[in-house]
Formats: sequence, structure tokens, C-alpha cells
Amino acid sequence: MKIYIGADQGGIDLKNEIVAHLKENNYDVQDLGIHDHTSIDYPEKAVEVCEAVLNSDSEDARGIIICGTGIGVSIAANKVKGIRAALLADGFSAKMARQHNNANVITLGGRTTGVELAIDIVENYLNSEFEGGRHGRRVDKLDCIME
Ligand code: RB5
Repeated sequence: MKIYIGADQGGIDLKNEIVAHLKENNYDVQDLGIHDHTSIDYPEKAVEVCEAVLNSDSEDARGIIICGTGIGVSIAANKVKGIRAALLADGFSAKMARQHNNANVITLGGRTTGVELAIDIVENYLNSEFEGGRHGRRVDKLDCIME
């Protein structure tokens, strides 16, 4: 599983903490920036991470995108065809985002979510699997909305 992560200036500090955690725990993570606190427009970073997920040669690629609240990048990511992005603030929802919604991207708020909670969310998300079955039917209907 390859993980692509990106942030704007509102999310860079949390992004760096998550990258350090993922590397320490031997996850295959690619940090798409930003790498300094220069201000950017978050829709561009959101689309960059989403395209990396969609074009990845990894079978089960996932994305993590962080802005100040997670809201802007979540709105942007969900406009990219093939992306199901979940804005998360707790570990249970992180698990459900994968098991029921088959989210391939999660978004977090760097100004709203502490490091420990964010890492719990990321771990729950990365270590959950899509359940399929009736959830597969529902996710298929989600994907049809964009067609
Ligand atoms: C940038 O200041 C801020 O608007 C952005 O990080 C995010 O919170 C948008 O939803």
C-alpha cells in the first residue's frame, strides 16, 4: 500500500508529524509537500494528491490531505472522479470510512486535530479493509453520481 500525503500551510505541521510516524513504522509514504510554510491554494494540493492516488502503480494507494480544517481539501478531493474522500475527526469514523465507504483519501484539519488523535485516525484508516457486500452496492452508487 502506497500512501500519498500533502498539505497546505494550515496542515504542514500536522503533515510532517504524520509523515515521521509513517516512516518510523515502515509505511511506504510519499510526501508531496508543501515543504515550507509558503502560502498556497489548497485545491491545487488536494488535486495533486488525488491524481497521485489515481495514477499510482500501487494496488491499494491511499491519500491523506491536510489543510487548516480539512474542509477545503475534502470538498476539492470529492470533485475528482474516482476519489472518495472522508473528512475525519475520530478513530471510529476512520475505520468506517474504509470498511463501509471504501474511502481512498482521508482529510484532516491541522488546526483542529491534535497529533495523537490524528495518528490514531490514520492508523485506524490504514489498518481497515473494505467490507464489500451491501457496502459495495452503495459505493457503486456513489461512484455513479459523478458519471
Ligand atoms: C488556509 O488559511 C485555510 O483556509 C485552509 O487551510 C483550509 O482550512 C481550508 O478549508
